[in-house]
Amino acid sequence: MVAKLFWMNLTILLCCGLSAAEKVMRPTFKDVKVWSDEKHVTHKLAFDPKDPHLNFTLHVLKDLNDVDIHTEIRIVQKKDPTYSFYTNSTMNLCRIFDWRNISPIGLLINNFMKEYGNLIEKCPIVKGEYFVHRFWYPEDVTVATLPEVDFEINFAAYHVDASKNRVLIINDHITGEGVVQDVNNVKPGLLALLPKAG
Ligand SMILES: *[C@@H]1O[C@H](CO)[C@@H](O)[C@H](O)[C@H]1NC(C)=O
Ligand SMILES: *[C@@H]1O[C@H](CO)[C@@H](O)[C@H](O)[C@H]1NC(C)=O
Repeated sequence: MVAKLFWMNLTILLCCGLSAAEKVMRPTFKDVKVWSDEKHVTHKLAFDPKDPHLNFTLHVLKDLNDVDIHTEIRIVQKKDPTYSFYTNSTMNLCRIFDWRNISPIGLLINNFMKEYGNLIEKCPIVKGEYFVHRFWYPEDVTVATLPEVDFEINFAAYHVDASKNRVLIINDHITGEGVVQDVNNVKPGLLALLPKAG
């Protein structure tokens, strides 16, 4: 009798625990414009909001000496646009690789990302195909308490040749929103492993 109850409870727990919807804040993309020069690189970005994942594929058509990346991110609260976040930065990709190789956090991120594909390891970047497939960042249900936002991401990459000439090779514009939604496929990961505050 006790055993039977135990199995019944376990079954209920398994079936219903797993299928219960949970609230998370997930981005959805409204407008995705990607551009590449098609001389140095071509690239593709695909997103599936149902089984949330991103695929990113980069074809490097000739060896790249050095690359600068420029990122502009704007995040605005839907309810009150007074609250916003903006960042505008230019970084050297090759120096990020160096940092990744000497920093424990860089290594952690690199090992996490590596499971999703074939990443660029160093400069110069040799001709070939690089990709990240079926990638999704670790989700945490506690983030669902954050206010909903609109976001805009501008991303550009410049090839820097041996004589320091910069040529635009990638120019992407992505807009979207982060909305709280009920899902039954939360993708936990690094964040979910950390102890919860409070
Ligand atoms: C992403 O790539 C995976 C594996 O290559 C594929 O199964 C999936 O359909 C792709 N998703 C999109 C949105 O293109
Ligand atoms: C972002 O920074 C670049 C230079 O680093 C500048 O040209 C551009 O105007 C800035 N964008 C905004 C919206 O301030």
